[in-house]
Amino acid sequence: MLLEGKTGLVLGVANNRSIAWGIARAARDAGARLVLTYQNERMERNVRKLAPELGDPILFRCDVSNDAEIDALMSGVEREAGGIDFLVHALAYAPRKALSGGYVDTTRDAFRTTLDVSAYSLVAVARGAAPLMKDRGGSIVTLTYVGSQRVVPNYNVMGVSKAALEASVRYLANDLGPQGIRVNAISAGPIRTLASSAVSGISGMVRMHAERAPLRSATDVSEVGDTALFLLSPLSRGITGEVIYVDGGYSTLLGT
Ligand SMILES: NC(=O)c1ccc[n+]([C@@H]2O[C@H](COP(=O)([O-])OP(=O)(O)OC[C@H]3O[C@@H](n4cnc5c(N)ncnc54)[C@H](O)[C@@H]3O)[C@@H](O)[C@H]2O)c1
Repeated sequence: MLLEGKTGLVLGVANNRSIAWGIARAARDAGARLVLTYQNERMERNVRKLAPELGDPILFRCDVSNDAEIDALMSGVEREAGGIDFLVHALAYAPRKALSGGYVDTTRDAFRTTLDVSAYSLVAVARGAAPLMKDRGGSIVTLTYVGSQRVVPNYNVMGVSKAALEASVRYLANDLGPQGIRVNAISAGPIRTLASSAVSGISGMVRMHAERAPLRSATDVSEVGDTALFLLSPLSRGITGEVIYVDGGYSTLLGT
């Protein structure tokens, strides 16, 4: 029970295939009390239906492109949960059109929206959550993909936003470390989810990954959940500013 007595805020559950869901389950199984958010009314239905599987989590709406909603979330968490010990940021968005064809065709609007929702949001929620983690340590985990480091066909502007996200992890780790708050990222292999279905060719990527990765299997959400559990728990107390790959070793291959 690595997270017994701990409270965590998890952003990014859309359905039971979400990486955020896998992490929330791992955290709950390890004893954590959870606060979940949903992006909008459409997601609310799913999240309310799933929530009982995690005990009785507190639920809030939060669209991370809206500062007022982030402020309201943090006030609500303080009011109803007191404070938090960890935060999971497992969300991203890019317009579907930007996730096929050439990166060179990315519009200013698509670039701005993608970087705002997928990268800046980590800065905003980390800033909002830090006071809630006062004097209780604190661990923040976000999700990234190797398309930040290498060219992955069709990943395009999302790869650029993941590069910004990974750099943010390092800067945030340096800012928040003196308060005892750690910030890390998990770089997961491709998994079929609502968000990844927007990336043209995702099925082929999952198949190729399973065939070529040193561990010869596709990345499973439960593997990501277990590594997140490690990063959220005191077992990883000496680690911050890192990107840990959970991809069966795929990113170590030449040509990936
Ligand atoms: N699935 C993969 O192959 C894969 C691989 C590596 C990293 N990731 C990353 O994992 C994270 C979770 O994605 P997933 O694959 O579980 O997909 P998902 O569709 O289950 O989750 C994406 C979440 O982002 C939320 N979101 C989008 N815009 C938002 C906004 N403005 N405000 C609040 N929430 C918003 C959605 O509501 C959804 O819950 C993302 O950062 C993604 O880039 C995914």
